[in-house]
Amino acid sequence: MKVVATLGPALALDVADAESTAELRQQAEGCTRCDLYRNATQIVFGEGAENAGIVLVGEQPGDREDLTGRPFVGPAGHLLDHCLEEAGLDRERCYVTNAVKHFKFTPRGKRRLHAKPNAGEIRRCAWWLGAEVNILEPKLVVALGASALYALLGPKVKLTPERGHILQPANHPPVLVTIHPSFLLRIRDEAERERQRRAFVSDLHKAAEVQPR
Ligand code: URA
Repeated sequence: MKVVATLGPALALDVADAESTAELRQQAEGCTRCDLYRNATQIVFGEGAENAGIVLVGEQPGDREDLTGRPFVGPAGHLLDHCLEEAGLDRERCYVTNAVKHFKFTPRGKRRLHAKPNAGEIRRCAWWLGAEVNILEPKLVVALGASALYALLGPKVKLTPERGHILQPANHPPVLVTIHPSFLLRIRDEAERERQRRAFVSDLHKAAEVQPR
């Protein structure tokens, strides 16, 4: 495990004005910390076991998540579920959340195309992610992709060199760095997609060691 000197906006906050994630979720319902609430259908808060040893952090809800109000239930979520299972991780015993809790999109005809949240939006939403981590006190946080990594450990920690590593920030749970499952969905070449999928499962396997069967 490698020690890191920086904290991202979520871990740096050190706030938790609630006893449980259910209470926190209620507080977040009316969130207007950034403008993303204006066009989203609803907030998509984290969900999962209150005693979860592992917290999985994605980027932001997609179209399906925005409509259902639940994280990782669309195509990236299905792929994540398969990879978690293959790695021996039980999603039911994890807590699954996002760096940003409202769907950001660009309308294109009838479709809503995913738009990447910017650093300001991630910083504003870090209030909720930081509080979720503080309440749950997990054994491990898994950063799925660059936005989650930014929220947890800040701009100096880069995904590519740290991918697959577990980083230990001071006074906070360790962070396993890996890719976002939607990265796999974008790879055209089948062999390369399979190679990357296996590498992702192998990263997740490190988290499975923290969650005994
Ligand atoms: N991508 C994410 O990062 N989070 C979700 O909940 C769905 C897709």
